[in-house]
Formats: sequence, C-alpha cells, structure tokens
Amino acid sequence: MHQDIERVLISEAQILAGIERLAEQVTGLYEGSEFTVVSVLKGSCIFASDLIRSIPIPLELAFVAARSYGDRTEAGELVIDLVPAGNEIEGKRMLLVDDILDTGQTMQRLKTELLERGATDVKTCVFLDKPARRALEFEADLTAFEVEDLFVVGYGLDFAGRYRNLPYVGVLKPEVFEER
Ligand code: IMP
Ligand code: MG
Repeated sequence: MHQDIERVLISEAQILAGIERLAEQVTGLYEGSEFTVVSVLKGSCIFASDLIRSIPIPLELAFVAARSYGDRTEAGELVIDLVPAGNEIEGKRMLLVDDILDTGQTMQRLKTELLERGATDVKTCVFLDKPARRALEFEADLTAFEVEDLFVVGYGLDFAGRYRNLPYVGVLKPEVFEER
C-alpha cells in the first residue's frame, strides 16, 4: 500500500497536532451543554474516533452514511443510506463530522437533513477542506487542515474503497489511478 503513495501531504505527527487543536475548539464550543458527534461513514470513522478521544467533556456518538454515485474521484448524486433514530436527533445539538469538504454537497445535504428531523443546532467539523473545489456556498465551522486541489487518500479517505487505513494523508502515484 505505501508503495502506491507518491508523497505524504500530512504526516501522523501533524495529524495528531491538528486533532488536539480541533478538540480544544470543540470543547470550548460545547463546554457545559449536551451534544452529539455525528460521524459521516465511512470516511470520517478514523478522524471521529481520534477526535472524540481528545475531547474531555461528555458527548454522545451517532452515525450517518452517505455515498455519492460516481465511485472514482468525481462526486455524483448523493444518496443517504443511514440516519440516526428520531429520538437521537430531536432536540439535540449536533456536530456533524466528515473527512473532507469538497464540493460541499455532502455536508450541506446532511446538515439540512438533521435540522429537518428536529436537531436544534447543527455545526460542522471536517478533517480536510479543499476550498478550490467548492460548488456551492458552504463553509465548515471547524477545519483541521486545508489542502490544495489534489485527490488525497489515507486517514479514512479512500480511492475506490482502498487506502483508508493509511495512518497519514498522501497523494497517489498517477499510475495507480490509471490501473483502476
Ligand atoms: P462533497 O460532497 O463533494 O463535499 O464530497 C465529500 C466526499 O467526497 C467526502 O466525504 C469523500 O468521501 C469524497 N472525497 C472528496 N474529495 C476526496 C479526496 O481527495 N479523496 C478521497 N475522497 C474524497
Ligand atoms: Mg469516499
């Protein structure tokens, strides 16, 4: 797997520092109030599990799953596969957590969905932000790292289902794209 990576963009040490920074911000936002971290599957599972373990205040955990048609590097139409039960959303303050904010479609759709289902407040937190790709007006409330307009893998992010288990964020060698 490592041999498919052309270069490392964000190292493990940099990721840890970024998570600590973000965890302090989340703690400041929600100190003294109840909230639920909503992890967007599959991409944010690693980020969310590291993040919540650095947050020293009580929280609940929930999951949503969304996928966009267009399996490869281009986003397609968004399908929501999983949402928490009604009583896990109604009246709750929620922090929606995803791996990357790209066109903005996923986060905007999911935020709207949670608000429509009765969440009182939905904030958004992303591991990576790729502002160059934004197709609609949407900004995350909290971001760990901004990245340039490159397709990246690792730390939860996949290419065709693979590379989520890389402990760093990297760029694939061009021939890996061409092979698949
Ligand atoms: P958006 O809906 O266009 O903002 O895209 C968000 C989703 O696209 C993310 O949750 C990722 O699953 C996927 N995605 C966007 N950019 C990348 C990338 O560089 N690498 C891997 N997945 C990506
Ligand atoms: Mg993906």
